[in-house]
Amino acid sequence: LKIFTGNANPKLAQEICAYLKVPLGKAKVGRFSDGEISLAIDESVRGADVFVIQPTCNPVNDNLMELLILIDALRRASAWRITAVIPYYGYARQERKTRARDPISAKLVANLITAAGADRVLTMDLHAGAIQGFFDIPVDHLTAIPILADYFKALNLKELVVVSPDVGGVIRARNLAERLKAEIAIIDKRRPTANVAEVMNIIGEVEGKTVIMVDDLIDTAGTICLGAQALKEQGARSIYACCTHPVLSGPAVERLEASPIEEVVVCNTIPVPAEKNTPKLRHLSVA
Ligand code: R5P
Repeated sequence: LKIFTGNANPKLAQEICAYLKVPLGKAKVGRFSDGEISLAIDESVRGADVFVIQPTCNPVNDNLMELLILIDALRRASAWRITAVIPYYGYARQERKTRARDPISAKLVANLITAAGADRVLTMDLHAGAIQGFFDIPVDHLTAIPILADYFKALNLKELVVVSPDVGGVIRARNLAERLKAEIAIIDKRRPTANVAEVMNIIGEVEGKTVIMVDDLIDTAGTICLGAQALKEQGARSIYACCTHPVLSGPAVERLEASPIEEVVVCNTIPVPAEKNTPKLRHLSVA
């Protein structure tokens, strides 16, 4: 077993190696002076079962290209099996056409990963589970919900309601709610344009309750913060939020800070840089 990583999330790769008691594979993923990616794999991988840990988070195109080049080099170096470990799968939100002439970028990315030479993919909390079917190689689709549930169980919160911030997230919310023996509620969200969220209604009883909003990812934090505001207006007593993937782009940090959310629990599928690490964030490891 050999484990390699690019520059997307080396800390997570190190944590996984420590857990497995396997040293991190010797590879240098750098840049040529014109910005192209350079790669040197400094140990034999012939006949090895190789795992490449590389979420395709921001900068998504660089991280994706590093992943493809790593897989290509390992294939040409006669690795026996190559598993692309992609804890966060970038472009997952472009998984179907919603308007004429839209791309299906999530499928294009699947084609690229397969063409590069991956034998298997391991990923977590895909924005749309159907992306598994974009691959003709095995996909292991893991979820961080048990890790999030353990964290909230330890807080021993009472009168708990788990809230899905949109209709698409109901199964995820139910999964968490069952583990916490909580009720669920659903926010009826609308997106008039990309990256803009509007709350229409709250379906379920939240007055006087402690609520936990759960999502696959927090990007600009519009969804989660608008949801929190609506929950507060409906009389929620205290508000928590959690997600697997802290994308945290644009105004996310300011929005979270200004929101009525007490605590935002996130996993380390994506590294959170120091300048985005607001005091409200709690970090859990998926290693
Ligand atoms: C949408 O369906 C996703 O599950 C997230 O709710 C959404 O992508 C979060 O984006 P933002 O934080 O920018 O509202």
